[in-house]
Amino acid sequence: MKVLVVGSGGREHALIWKIAQSRRVDKIYAAPGNGGIASLATLVDIKADDISGLSDFASREKIGLTVVGPEMALVKGIADEFEKRNLRIFGAKKSAALLEGSKIFAKETMREFDVPTADFKVFDKKEEALSYVKKKGAPIVIKADGLAAGKGVFVCSSLKEAEDAIDETMGKKVFGSSGDRVVIEECLEGEEASVIVVSDGESVVPMASSQDHKRIYDDDKGANTGGMGAYSPAPVVEGEIFQETLDRIIYPVINGLKKKGVLYKGVLYAGIMITKDGPYVLEFNVRFGDPETQAILPRMKGDLIDLIECSIDGKLRDVENEWDKRACVCVVAASGGYPGEYEKGRTITGLKGFEETSRDVVIFHAATKKKNSDYVTSGGRVLGVTALGEDIKGAVKKSYEAIGKIHFDNMHYRKDIGKRALN
Ligand code: AMP
Ligand code: GLY
Repeated sequence: MKVLVVGSGGREHALIWKIAQSRRVDKIYAAPGNGGIASLATLVDIKADDISGLSDFASREKIGLTVVGPEMALVKGIADEFEKRNLRIFGAKKSAALLEGSKIFAKETMREFDVPTADFKVFDKKEEALSYVKKKGAPIVIKADGLAAGKGVFVCSSLKEAEDAIDETMGKKVFGSSGDRVVIEECLEGEEASVIVVSDGESVVPMASSQDHKRIYDDDKGANTGGMGAYSPAPVVEGEIFQETLDRIIYPVINGLKKKGVLYKGVLYAGIMITKDGPYVLEFNVRFGDPETQAILPRMKGDLIDLIECSIDGKLRDVENEWDKRACVCVVAASGGYPGEYEKGRTITGLKGFEETSRDVVIFHAATKKKNSDYVTSGGRVLGVTALGEDIKGAVKKSYEAIGKIHFDNMHYRKDIGKRALN
């Protein structure tokens, strides 16, 4: 079978790396992919949210299965378009993707089905939002309703910050129409984790637990990023809390949507805060996490294509994922300046030889290009240096040994990935 993977980041490299191990796959295409992905897949120059370009390609090349990485295409309805054209695709339909595409839809869905989440109110007028935060005081959280490339959430520790956030989103419109409406919610305290499942609309198969590191600097300091590293399993969400997340969050949402005529097929990712009252939802994503996927897939024993096809065909009921007992850690190497401005085109050295020396270390490329025989940087998050180890401590050691051999000018990475799991 021919498989097309949509996207160009480290998550897509990890998906392709795993898909390439499936006995059922003959050829993989990536649209648009990146330099590192090119070693496993043929790159196709179509943007990840160009729905008509992607569906024309899939139809012309007789692609047997398309797997969507990022959210934008899903929110814009790629799964609906593919289905209309009788093309097989793995990803939530537009009506389901609203869980990520609209924070208001997500919060109202949670309220309707009694899913634990921070108390909230919705505003479409700036003045009313401002007087509400004045009344409530800080800390308080302001969220733009629509997609904002991961930048639309403001956790405000002072009233001034909250007023500025409202002005950015509703006044200056830095996220365009995504900020026409905002959710203002109570600030939760606790430990964050990611619970990711694959659903067929009725049954779900959980992926292994994981934890991301959102802030740019060690000890969770500095700006929010797409994610600077991840590990799996995540001890904070193992056992009872994991089950509670499935029972109180995942199933109620999937069953509730089904009752409303929305069959949730695809990936459902709950970003949760483990509070003193149990897991609360911070956000839903309708796709795999990045970089969580890089830390999860190396632990997956089964065939990812089989799992995906059971989701599409509504046959997940009897499927179980088996996980490698070892732990996996992914450390992200980013361009200096990210998540703000940074330079591209820096030559990366030290990438050769990992596959020969250790099958437990994989370098997933997030933003690289091939230039002659070298790889150069082409974005903010550049590489995900990933290692399996007997436990988190062992995996941490191996990934830091590996990243220590890699270099590009102004490379930045956190030195404390996995530290929380060790405490
Ligand atoms: P989101 O994109 O909604 O996950 O928000 C991004 C980050 O903001 C989360 O990973 C949390 O660190 C933080 N956050 C979001 N909502 C809340 C909340 N209600 N209380 C505290 N922190 C939050
Ligand atoms: N790592 C966070 C996300 O994928 O949204």
